Amino acid sequence: MNHHIQFSVTGGPEVLQWMEGPLPEPGPGEVRVRHTAIGVNYIDVYHRSGAYPVPLPAVPGFEAAGVVEALGPGVSGLSAGQRVAYVDGPAGAYSERRNHPAERLVPLPETLSDEAAAALLFKGLTAHMLVRRVWRPEASPWVLVHAAAGGVGLILTRWLAREGGRVIGVVSSAEKAAMVREEGAEATIVVPRGAAYDQVPDETRRITGGPGVNTVFDSVGRDTLEASLASLAPFGLLASFGRSSGPLPSVDPADLGRRGSLALQRPSIFHHISDPAALRAAAAEVFAAHAQGKLKAHIHDTLPLREAARAHALLESRTTQGALVLIP
Ligand SMILES: NC(=O)c1ccc[n+]([C@@H]2O[C@H](COP(=O)([O-])OP(=O)(O)OC[C@H]3O[C@@H](n4cnc5c(N)ncnc54)[C@H](OP(=O)(O)O)[C@@H]3O)[C@@H](O)[C@H]2O)c1
Repeated sequence: MNHHIQFSVTGGPEVLQWMEGPLPEPGPGEVRVRHTAIGVNYIDVYHRSGAYPVPLPAVPGFEAAGVVEALGPGVSGLSAGQRVAYVDGPAGAYSERRNHPAERLVPLPETLSDEAAAALLFKGLTAHMLVRRVWRPEASPWVLVHAAAGGVGLILTRWLAREGGRVIGVVSSAEKAAMVREEGAEATIVVPRGAAYDQVPDETRRITGGPGVNTVFDSVGRDTLEASLASLAPFGLLASFGRSSGPLPSVDPADLGRRGSLALQRPSIFHHISDPAALRAAAAEVFAAHAQGKLKAHIHDTLPLREAARAHALLESRTTQGALVLIP
């Protein structure tokens, strides 16, 4: 029997239930993976809460590291006992074992532990997309990063700073601000929980001594949209890549024009790594950057898989710094 976490209705963390059920043999092109460490990502919260509707019942989770246990028909290039990880769907990573498409598995280097891989891969590939495909450092190195002490935020801040970015990190506490500065942020803006983000644009202009930043990375969404747009210099880009505070209102392109010929982009990791070759190339760059110290796996805490509900409550409480990892 195989244990997993499942939800049959959407709602708060309490809808996550510990279940057991059979696991079929891996089908054609699939591999059975025994999970050793499972990454918790905010997308798991959106699925559980119903913010992103999914067919029910559902097993959450898009990221895990583990060991290959069995190969389905037609699989080559992988072997039983090999350490691997994955970062995409179908969802189902909150489980002891699962079958997953072989072409979506990434072999893990010896330099990376399974827990570090589960803390690094999804968030590191997101940062890879933002740094390599979205960031526009040409006009100015100044960049604003919201939720800079979060799972993605710490990795993104460090990577941008190592590549010449002058990062202003927005966080909700002085403790988080100190951590973000350790990762290379040049300045931080503290907006305590419950406070509005109104002062962010003026603070940004004061810090940069200019018209604002050229790029904003905003994963908070509803609560930060206005402050993000108002912090941009002319021709700046708002990369809106998440909505932890809630869905964004629609934006009128004419308003982007009036504010200074701004651009708005909604990048997704799933487009970034949809091609298996692109996935492996991006993962190789993440592993190399980790080995060089350009990226760091920050584990806020590890919890038993059975306590997935507690992990979700923690993530939503805005008290975590870095990643949460579940251990089956
Ligand atoms: N587009 C993509 O492909 C992609 C891929 C990966 C992740 N993401 C997005 O990136 C974001 C970060 O993901 P993560 O897993 O690393 O989570 P996280 O950043 O560790 O956690 C979310 C953080 O957002 C901030 N926040 C501000 N207002 C919030 C609110 N009302 N409720 C909850 N959090 C709030 C909190 O930091 P402060 O308390 O410091 O404000 C909190 O720690 C998420 O929005 C996620 O959807 C997008």
